[in-house]
Amino acid sequence: MTRIAFLLVAVVTVAGVVASLAPASGQAVGEAAPIFVTKIPPGYRDWRLVSVAHEEGELNDIRAILGNDVAIKSYREGKLPFPEGTIIARIAWNYVPSEENNKIFGRPQSFVAGSAPAWYLQFMVKDSKKYAATGGWGFAQFDKDGKPAPEADLKKCFPCHQAIKDRDFVFTRYSP
Ligand code: HEC
Repeated sequence: MTRIAFLLVAVVTVAGVVASLAPASGQAVGEAAPIFVTKIPPGYRDWRLVSVAHEEGELNDIRAILGNDVAIKSYREGKLPFPEGTIIARIAWNYVPSEENNKIFGRPQSFVAGSAPAWYLQFMVKDSKKYAATGGWGFAQFDKDGKPAPEADLKKCFPCHQAIKDRDFVFTRYSP
C-alpha cells in the first residue's frame, strides 16, 4: 500500500514538473517570440557608413546610416534581399550652428551634430524566421540613454517601411 502511495506521489510530481516545463519548451511559433529588437547590437558605432541624410519638419535632424559587415557586403554587391544577419543602424543628431567653425569661415555657414533627439538610435535586424511578420526585419529604437521606445511606437515602423518592399523594406541607398 505504501509502495502504491509512493508511486502515485512520484507520478504526480513528474507530471507537475513536465507541465511546468511545457510552456517554455513548447512555445508556439510567433506567440511569445519578441517582435521587436530590445537590445542595442554591440559594436554598431564602428560599422561602416552607408549614407547620410537630413530630415526637415518635425524631426529636423542630421543622420548617419551604418551597416554591419553583412549589410555593407550586400550593399556593395547590389544584392537583394539582404541576407540573414544584416543589421542597419541609423543614428540621428540635432544639428546646431558652430560658432567655432563660423569664426574661421568669417560667416555663418557651419552646422554640426548636436544633442541626441528622442529617436536617437534605430536599427533594422534581418532574421526572417524571428521577424517573419514584419518582412523579416526586427525594428528597434533607443534614446540616448539606451532606453527602448514604447511598443506602440515600434508598431508604426513596418507599416511605413512596407512602402519600399521592392528594395527589401530599406529606403537608404548606398552612397559611394
Ligand atoms: C512614416 C514612415 C516611417 C516610419 C513610421 C518609420 N520609418 Fe524608418 N525610414 C523611413 C524613411 C523614409 C527612411 C529614409 C529616411 C531618409 O534617409 O531621409 C527611413 C530610414 C530608416 C532606417 C535606415 C534604413 C532605411 O530603411 O533607409 C532605419 C534603420 C529605420 N528607418 C528604422 C525605423 C524604425 C526602427 C522605425 C520605428 C520606430 C521607423 N523606421 C519608422 C520611413 C519611416
